[in-house]
Amino acid sequence: MKNIRKIIVKLEDRSYPIYIGKNILSDKSLLGKINVNNFALVTNKKIKSLHLSKIKNNSIKKNQIILSDGEKYKNQESISKIYSYLLKNKFSRDSCLVAFGGGVIGDMTGYASATYQRGINFIQIPTTLLSMVDSSVGGKTGINHPLGKNMIGAFHQPIAVIIDTEILKTLSKRQFNAGMAEVIKYGIIKDKNFFKWITKNCLNIKLQDPESIIKIIKRSCEIKAEIVSQDEEEKNIRALLNLGHTFGHAIENVLGYGKWLHGEAIACGFLIASSVAIQNKTMSINQYNDIKNLLEVFDLPTKLPKNINIENLFNAMLVDKKVKDNKMVYVLPNGIGDSYITNKISRKIVMKAFIQHA
Ligand SMILES: NC(=O)c1ccc[n+]([C@@H]2O[C@H](COP(=O)([O-])OP(=O)(O)OC[C@H]3O[C@@H](n4cnc5c(N)ncnc54)[C@H](O)[C@@H]3O)[C@@H](O)[C@H]2O)c1
Ligand SMILES: [Zn+2]
Repeated sequence: MKNIRKIIVKLEDRSYPIYIGKNILSDKSLLGKINVNNFALVTNKKIKSLHLSKIKNNSIKKNQIILSDGEKYKNQESISKIYSYLLKNKFSRDSCLVAFGGGVIGDMTGYASATYQRGINFIQIPTTLLSMVDSSVGGKTGINHPLGKNMIGAFHQPIAVIIDTEILKTLSKRQFNAGMAEVIKYGIIKDKNFFKWITKNCLNIKLQDPESIIKIIKRSCEIKAEIVSQDEEEKNIRALLNLGHTFGHAIENVLGYGKWLHGEAIACGFLIASSVAIQNKTMSINQYNDIKNLLEVFDLPTKLPKNINIENLFNAMLVDKKVKDNKMVYVLPNGIGDSYITNKISRKIVMKAFIQHA
């Protein structure tokens, strides 16, 4: 077997492995370990033409469900397509779906698996950096509703995650950088040394040096796995993974979805959260600048979109999911490498942070 790194997401009887390595999709023995009779692979045309040939195990690609590419197809109609294929082809409860794609394919395949015949198994084979370090791990699955993003969904853990770093080679630079925002997030919320390591090795990462890529994916997955093991359904500490997201979602929403990538919006969100933290005396200006400089290396935005209306931004946050007992809940950095959740931040402080980034 090739050089494969393995991480376990510990969730008692629902624990599962994450395998990470270069060219591991061609490793028949790895996929052969997964004991399933009937697979159906879900992907889109683009990923199929670029990468399906990398999967050497024929039983995994025998049945293919090809969905349209894009966030706007992350809806009930695509889910119905999956159900129809499975029903027409008499897939039973012991079959297994395989998500082969970015977060959109992963979230939809997971949700279809959670609901088809009250729940079947699924495997994640993520193909974007964002899905490798974030969405494929942790069991949040779902689709969008016309009235809100990710509003319909279920917690349903995969039985394995297989990450082949070779697949990243065809990803656009912009998508790669957006994934880096989530990687940097793990450093800020939980691991000062990882943040330092990314800063020191940023040029190697940009050049996609294979060992550096494996290192950032592995450490990101370890941190996510650890947090998910402690709080699978986001009752408390899993919320730390939302650093910058309340602000980021508001930006995505006010700007119109798709103008900025999710990673770009949350990158700006980290800095707004950091400004709030400075006012709340849990971060220094130097630490703020360390984050800003690293985001700039990956061409991530450090200011709000031009001419965005700050009142609208604040109002968009109120309809996000992070309002509890009528108080806004914020995730804030405590320096670099630690973070906390608070509902004691005034509107004035947040507005000041917005203005500083206008
Ligand atoms: N479940 C979770 O915990 C979680 C966490 C974060 C984000 N998400 C969801 O993930 C989605 C975003 O995921 P994403 O950023 O991966 O976007 P995506 O799935 O839309 O992929 C981005 C684009 O890249 C293409 N692509 C994928 N892999 C490629 C490759 N190797 N080479 C070339 N092109 C490739 C896709 O076809 C698509 O056009 C959102 O819907 C978001 O809500 C879920
Ligand atoms: Zn995110």
